[in-house]
Amino acid sequence: MTSDNDVPRVHRLRCDNLRQPDGLHSARPEFGWAVAGDPPHITAWRIIADVSADHIAQGRGDLWDSGRVDAPGVFNTAWDGPTLPNDARIYYSVQVWDHLDRATPFAPAASFFTGLTAQDWRGDWIARYFVLPEGRDVPQDTRYDNRFQARPADYLRRCFDVAGKPVRAFVYVSALGLYELYLNGQRIGDHVMAPGWTDYHIRTPYQSFDVTELLTEGPNVMGAILGEGWYSGRIGHNQRRAGNHYGGRPALMLQLHVQYADGETLCITSDDQWQTRQGPVCYSDFLAGEMYDARLEMPGWNTAQYHPENWQPVEVISPEPSAPMLEPSRTEPARAVATLPVQQQSTAPDGSLIFDFGQNLAGYVHMQVRAPRGTEIRLRHAERLDADGALYTANLRYAVSEDIYICHGDGVEDFTPRFTFHGFQYVGLSASAPLPDLSLSAVAIQTDLPVTGQISTGNPMLNQLISNIFWSQRGNFLSVPTDCPQRDERYGWSADAQVFWRTAGYFMDVSSFLSKWMQDLIDGQSPDGVFPDVAPTKPLNPYRLTPQPGAPAWGDAPIIMAWDHYTRYADTALLQRCWQPFCDWMNWIERQNPNGLRLEGVNNNYGDWLSVGPGTHRPLINTAYWIRLADLMGRIATVIGQPAVRWTALAARLRDTFVASFWTKEGTLTGDTQTAYLLALGFDLLPPPLRPQAATRLGALIDAADGHLQTGFLGVRHLAPVVCDWLSPTRAVDLLLKETYPSWGFSIAHGATTIWERWDGWTPGGGFQSTAMNSFNHYAYGAVGEWIWARLAGIDTDPAGPGYRRLQMRPVLDARIGHVTAHYDAPHGRIHSAWVMQGDRVAWQITLPTDTCAEVALPPGWSAPQGTEFNLTAGTHDLHLARSEKGA
Ligand code: BGC
Repeated sequence: MTSDNDVPRVHRLRCDNLRQPDGLHSARPEFGWAVAGDPPHITAWRIIADVSADHIAQGRGDLWDSGRVDAPGVFNTAWDGPTLPNDARIYYSVQVWDHLDRATPFAPAASFFTGLTAQDWRGDWIARYFVLPEGRDVPQDTRYDNRFQARPADYLRRCFDVAGKPVRAFVYVSALGLYELYLNGQRIGDHVMAPGWTDYHIRTPYQSFDVTELLTEGPNVMGAILGEGWYSGRIGHNQRRAGNHYGGRPALMLQLHVQYADGETLCITSDDQWQTRQGPVCYSDFLAGEMYDARLEMPGWNTAQYHPENWQPVEVISPEPSAPMLEPSRTEPARAVATLPVQQQSTAPDGSLIFDFGQNLAGYVHMQVRAPRGTEIRLRHAERLDADGALYTANLRYAVSEDIYICHGDGVEDFTPRFTFHGFQYVGLSASAPLPDLSLSAVAIQTDLPVTGQISTGNPMLNQLISNIFWSQRGNFLSVPTDCPQRDERYGWSADAQVFWRTAGYFMDVSSFLSKWMQDLIDGQSPDGVFPDVAPTKPLNPYRLTPQPGAPAWGDAPIIMAWDHYTRYADTALLQRCWQPFCDWMNWIERQNPNGLRLEGVNNNYGDWLSVGPGTHRPLINTAYWIRLADLMGRIATVIGQPAVRWTALAARLRDTFVASFWTKEGTLTGDTQTAYLLALGFDLLPPPLRPQAATRLGALIDAADGHLQTGFLGVRHLAPVVCDWLSPTRAVDLLLKETYPSWGFSIAHGATTIWERWDGWTPGGGFQSTAMNSFNHYAYGAVGEWIWARLAGIDTDPAGPGYRRLQMRPVLDARIGHVTAHYDAPHGRIHSAWVMQGDRVAWQITLPTDTCAEVALPPGWSAPQGTEFNLTAGTHDLHLARSEKGA
């Protein structure tokens, strides 16, 4: 129970699900907060907003002070102050009142930019010239030539005068391509791969920075480096059209607003006053890697002291087919989130040094080195070593993944590439001269979503599996949820994401990430309603004029993920926003398949992708998914006040067709595979009398596979939950802890530090799987994570109380797991669950945050003084469980 020493406090302030929005997408942004200290209830809240951070620190909100709002159990509100001005930075804070009517202090201030509207943008898109202005010499050098025809990064600079000390200065910036921004030599922000990936023909995000402190009276210089990134660099696997998916050269858009004390303003934009030239980044490309010639550095190029030589005017361009909409970022920026030291060093057969960072990751190397001028250092990246101890790179396909650094020779040199990233655990280094002074570390990058969950158990293999899931999420959450970060692919494949989403939401706050990616999916939807296989869509099949239409389970992802989003965050805004696109997809499926079997419009029809063992009947999979969608549409309709009956009626009709078509006279499902039964039970497709039969058959199939799974991407998500509920928790744990092929433990026994794309990515008998498709960092099979969280830790949401306001706690207690310690930051507070088994006893400690209740159901064979099923409310509870029956 709560002790009075736990003083409640408000923290984790969010605006539109972000720590600090770059701008607003609506006139009434949404605010959310969490309460620590776990009082049983909060009864009221108050929000204050002001343009001055100092005012907020004093508890003053001159722009908006909601006053005390009596609203028991409410942890969010929409802006209800005066109309927000554009181009402002607003600070805000929140306090709440607890059940004893005690007010908390205000939380430390957070802020948001209101941003610019389309009409506010006055800058041009500027880029390196294609055709030199008359009178200019064509550069004679060939030092930027390379076999990839990848372009050097563009350096851009503009000098401007500031007339006095400004009271505020905000810069808004975006790029077609990638940018790094500088003001008077200082890097602005710590974002990487900004502004992120969208369909640049439709929209591009901008970022906002407060640069008041960086301006000085007199001459100032704004500088930018532009890279190709997703815009014009290489992505995807089509070698005949590897790059230039959105345009031919990167471009910058920028606007700096300066305000002086006397009310005067200054506006600097991206215009024809900028100059450009090439510098030390000879090329920097996602797939090729980066070549950096430090001898070409231009010290001080982004400061006013620098004298520009050989700089050219920029060209004002009109992006084709039309200028994209500029809009504030919808998700967090990507950043460097972890630095890993070298774990082991070895020498490859060719004499190159190999560094093992002990963890497969997405990112790059940070190198510090001292070497003679002109020394060329090559860094090659790989996920695995081959049998001879050399880097194994065949699975990277056309991704070269090599960074080249040429030393300037002056003291210790520092190198991290800018506009490339690699998927790797190992780096092979070769150099044209000995390197007496060398240090390397690996830098992991990802969209910097708040980490919300941590879980550990008493089983080392399981802990490694949890770590592998987390790192596969980290390695594949870069602006969009991707399939893999290493080979020439790196697309936002939608089924991978939908099977993994519930797992992902435990480890990180994925609310803004989905809100952003959902827009990419909707941007890729065809006019007749077809959702794509991947989003953003362009680089996949670059010859098609339209996006690749989604297969069942792929095109279905948006609806499934939106429902997961609602149950986790109790956020209805996304459901509202997507309702019409969802209806369009559903109507399209129905038009293709009027008789209720999903046989048409199945596009690439991938089935239970990469399953082992017999393939699952695809019409069964596809119809099962359709029924799932109809069920979810019914639920979404109810939540957002739309008529639900059209969807519940569809679901009932499809269920009848499903059973009539796929339940055979022999009492099996057509195809008789694990995944068939997993989907039928997981999606609740069978009438009650058939369910136990289906479960028995599933058990028999697992037995026949010697206790192994045989599922692909689609089946795996249901494996542990269905086996646990319909066979037994023990059997689910058996599958989870299996170490023989195929299993998660098998990959771990063979060195996996992330989730493999294929169960047989590497086997002792066969070595590496086909080079055509064999990633070692692909999160789909990590979908088992949701069951680990929901059932081993017992932290499961109840659809009746979305947003983890009401939990179902039904832990699986198993001596092989021994203990579980987990916490999850639900939107409104932290949930703890920790149990430890000692013989016939289990001590289970639960902490529920404010205004949260849980329905606890102990597993059969266990009881507590409270009984076997009971309810808990906010606060800390120590439960003492004992076995009630022998052999349970
Ligand atoms: C990707 C997958 C994806 C699949 C579609 C693969 O190349 O890596 O993860 O879902 O194609 O079949």
